[in-house]
Amino acid sequence: MIEFTNVSKYFERDGKRVLAAKDINLKINQGEFLTVIGPSGCGKSTVLNMCAGLMKPSFGEVKYKKQLVNGINTSVGYMTQKDNLLPWRTVRGNVEIGLEIRGIGKKERERESASFIEMVGLKGFENHYPQELSGGMRRRVSLAKMLVYNPETLLLDEPFGALDAQLRLILQDKLLQIWQETGKTIIFVTHDLDEAVLLGERVAVFSKRPGTIKKVEEVKLPKKRDVYNLRMTDEFRKVHANLWQSLREEFVEEVNAV
Ligand SMILES: Nc1ncnc2c1ncn2[C@@H]1O[C@H](COP(=O)(O)OP(=O)(O)OP(=O)(O)O)[C@@H](O)[C@H]1O
Ligand SMILES: [Mg+2]
Repeated sequence: MIEFTNVSKYFERDGKRVLAAKDINLKINQGEFLTVIGPSGCGKSTVLNMCAGLMKPSFGEVKYKKQLVNGINTSVGYMTQKDNLLPWRTVRGNVEIGLEIRGIGKKERERESASFIEMVGLKGFENHYPQELSGGMRRRVSLAKMLVYNPETLLLDEPFGALDAQLRLILQDKLLQIWQETGKTIIFVTHDLDEAVLLGERVAVFSKRPGTIKKVEEVKLPKKRDVYNLRMTDEFRKVHANLWQSLREEFVEEVNAV
């Protein structure tokens, strides 16, 4: 479904090059749930941006369904790390944008948006504006805005980072349910190793910048997962310990410097 081949990306600033991602080789199968974890600044968002077609690789190529991504990739829904809610639109107005663009009628838009607004726990806030919401609530509006559009592939960049632990579990569970029922392909970036193992069928660990894929670990747990109890299982502990070993090496220098 998605294929990164020898992808590197650098940015230029004051005549200097900053290498953000280096030699990324990765294939994501249709219907797969891949989680991505790595130190801050290692290029995770850059990789999603290239997949969404918002940035071009400096070297190598990104393909989506065997086609070169060469402009905005309209088959993916992208929940970016920073939200881009329109301040002059209400929660409902923001959630319905994608449906409006598709020319879907008012009645159907309202029905669809209401169901996703409820799903993310924001019933009663339909007529609020983004500036009247908390950070976590804004993230949930962004999630509803992406899901209502029903894209075949979801790119999620730290979607649940600003949420409290309880709400996070509920939304992780909902996302898994959507994935199981629809067979969507998902790339999910997180800073939280627990979350990476709980959700992913495979977990890709990035090294510190310039980010390259250090390890891809399979999580041999059933597709139908219970996020509330999974942490107790042997497989979870095994994969977690294994990945932590790999991840902590990327932080050793920073930790030693403290
Ligand atoms: N548009 C841009 N222009 C210039 N440099 C950029 C741009 N986007 C990213 N970078 C640089 O590329 C590197 C990787 O950034 P990126 O946002 O991909 O990291 P990240 O892994 O998503 O980090 P975090 O976990 O903190 O979100 C950083 O050094 C960043 O400064
Ligand atoms: Mg990022």
